[in-house]
Amino acid sequence: MYVVYIVKVNMGKRYDWNDGWEFTEEFSEHIFTQQEGLTEVRIPHTVRETPFHYFSESVYQMESAYRRAFYAKEEWRGKKILVTFEGVAHEAFVYVNKVQAGKHSCGYTAFTVDITPYLKFGSTNQIVVRVDSREELNVPPFGNVIDYMTYGGIYRDVYVQIEEPVYISDIYVTTRHCLRKVKEAEIEVTLNDWQEPMLGEFLIRKSGESNCIIRHNFEIEKKQITKKIELEDVTLWSLEKPALYECVVNLYQDQKQVSTRKVRFGFREAQFLADGFYLNGEKVKIRGLNRHQSYPYVGYAMPKSQQIHDADILKKELGVNAVRTSHYPQSQYFIDRCDELGLLVFTELPGWQHIGDDKWKETAHRNVEEMVLQYRNHPSIILWGVRINESADDDSFYQKTNQLAHKLDPSRATGGVRCIKNSKLYEDVYTYNDFSYEGKLGQSGIEPRSRVTKESAASYLVSEYNGHMFPTKSFDCEEHRMEHALRHAQVVNDIAKAPSIAGGFGWCMADYNTHKDFGSGDRICYHGVMDMFRNPKTAAYVYQAQQEEMPVLEVGSSMDIGEHPGCYMRDIYVFTNADSIRFYKNDVLIKEYRSKDSAFKDMAHGPIAITDVIGDQLITKEGFSRRKSELVKKVLSDSMKYGMNNLPFETKLVAARLVLFYGMKLDDAVTLYNTYVGIWGGKSISYRFEAVKDGKVVKSICKSAVNEIHCFVDVDHTDLIEENSYDVASIRIRAVDQHGNILPYYQEPVTFATTGAIELIGPDTISLKGGMGGTYVRTRGVSGKGILTIKGAQFKAVSIEFSVTK
Ligand code: GAL
Repeated sequence: MYVVYIVKVNMGKRYDWNDGWEFTEEFSEHIFTQQEGLTEVRIPHTVRETPFHYFSESVYQMESAYRRAFYAKEEWRGKKILVTFEGVAHEAFVYVNKVQAGKHSCGYTAFTVDITPYLKFGSTNQIVVRVDSREELNVPPFGNVIDYMTYGGIYRDVYVQIEEPVYISDIYVTTRHCLRKVKEAEIEVTLNDWQEPMLGEFLIRKSGESNCIIRHNFEIEKKQITKKIELEDVTLWSLEKPALYECVVNLYQDQKQVSTRKVRFGFREAQFLADGFYLNGEKVKIRGLNRHQSYPYVGYAMPKSQQIHDADILKKELGVNAVRTSHYPQSQYFIDRCDELGLLVFTELPGWQHIGDDKWKETAHRNVEEMVLQYRNHPSIILWGVRINESADDDSFYQKTNQLAHKLDPSRATGGVRCIKNSKLYEDVYTYNDFSYEGKLGQSGIEPRSRVTKESAASYLVSEYNGHMFPTKSFDCEEHRMEHALRHAQVVNDIAKAPSIAGGFGWCMADYNTHKDFGSGDRICYHGVMDMFRNPKTAAYVYQAQQEEMPVLEVGSSMDIGEHPGCYMRDIYVFTNADSIRFYKNDVLIKEYRSKDSAFKDMAHGPIAITDVIGDQLITKEGFSRRKSELVKKVLSDSMKYGMNNLPFETKLVAARLVLFYGMKLDDAVTLYNTYVGIWGGKSISYRFEAVKDGKVVKSICKSAVNEIHCFVDVDHTDLIEENSYDVASIRIRAVDQHGNILPYYQEPVTFATTGAIELIGPDTISLKGGMGGTYVRTRGVSGKGILTIKGAQFKAVSIEFSVTK
């Protein structure tokens, strides 16, 4: 059934066109008249929902079609009707009443189609979008292999604007002299057309406030004009206090307001210098992660709330100060949220290793223009990536991408992500993927920059590290998960140590679906510090512990000796931002470890190794002298680490000393080991870790034999709102014990059931992986209550109530 949508007119306003679409997986001319066989869908939409893993990248490759009917009011006559698509993957042909009105080739940038000439006023009209999501398209990122799935569909918002024939098509605000008392804002206003002098007005106010700080009238004597204003008492945009401002421009013709437009911006000075990155004159070490915009089941098609959620996770849960939108521009909602949170962004043009033919390059150049024009007002963006990720040098191609970015935005630096040393520097910043670290003892986490490039006058940034060097699943063994965390810590630490390196972005925030050529064979790259549902792996706590907003304490071990080959536990690491850790065994304080003694000295809060699990017990319980106790502890601790039969030579010498001078026997060592370290068959032990900050215990963790299983559920929001489309809530699930510790080997089925105003995304039964999993619920276009019930065989069912407002 054809539903006709009617739009009321309000100049400059965006009318959402996310609802009322019909979809078919096969495009043919038939779509213009077809009565049957179409499915009603809402945008954001993916052409094919996918399983969690083990599916082929061919499933989303097709030429599909979307169709929508709408009524063009008689009063629209003489106006401009513009339809904007925020993201269509990957090539879109837009037809209005069967005639092609526009075409766009890039799955990651927005485009606007002027549909005015094709409309029938006072009548029902039809818009059809043919969407080509085949990966053999001759547009970036296609042409060779790609390490991420590229999906398909109209996966970001669609909206329509009804404008007068002359309207404001763009506002670009640049801020200058931000460190002086009097700051400058330069406002560039562009009209779609200009025929006669017109009057304009702009005003600046704090974002979200109605009082304006400054208001000016000006003559518009050409299509593009620039106004400079000076301001005092401005709050700078910073990581801690990301103050935002709005610039509203109104356009008048014959004393009547004919157009209005608003952009948000910030006052900040971001500089990449040879010795690092400076924000508002202060050196900031960039500590970031790379983010892919994909999710389980729906690929790229997630609405506003989940884009916001990912930015929140990065800043508030992972505690990073920056994100790289690898390897393409991402949702405006995501970047808006980065603006609001004070999260620095390095964004880049779409592409992956491959440079195509001239036509392909032309598209890439257009992509750079689109990226810069569409995102340049965001204060969070500090760097444009204008090189295809990890591609070879190409003089004319990259001279042009740099020229374009600098011309359209002289205020920002360019970077270009490469994996080659001594490559030609066309950009301002040498951005390099440093995968040199192999986890070897004593090895540096990164290469010295002088070995990568001779460009010592330029700024230098590590754009990726780790990733494929150490894929890690949430269900890998503990030692593997711990090593993953320590590898991240080593690189973070060594970047912090290198004074002239601007910072680094770890690979990557979350696991992602990938092509057959990459990943673990199940179409997943397990490179995230989080799983695909954004549940934390041990490595996530390395990042979380670097921030100061909330206390962090995580123990990278379940403290079960049987988890380790030969039952040798090795060092246990604790991740915390506290001043010290008190370690207790069966309520006996074994030792207080100071954070400043961490071997990772250069990062703010390095992991702490728990090397002594015995403390003073040999003195208090066995009556040993301190000297003897220290020698015995050395032998026992090394036995825990290497096994009794593999003691290092110097430890063997200590053991020999104990035999010769203290009269100890091998049997004594075994008994002491079993009592204080191995505790084979002993009474059950409990461990407690307390994080101490300013003399107070701010967090504690208990580990003892598991005797209860609970389902811990983390829901991002339960008040769902149908603002401009459906809303989605993320539900992260973890099986935990009686103390709240994750149960990494609880891989059991969990079932989901919904009632009321919500429905599930993805299957109703999953198995937890590494004790973790998740699901998503979305609204169904109706208001009211919705309930999600989560069940598992070994834990009490959990019900979550949602409210949906339309
Ligand atoms: C890089 C690439 C990323 C990802 C990563 C895995 O070479 O830029 O997209 O594939 O390797 O470690």
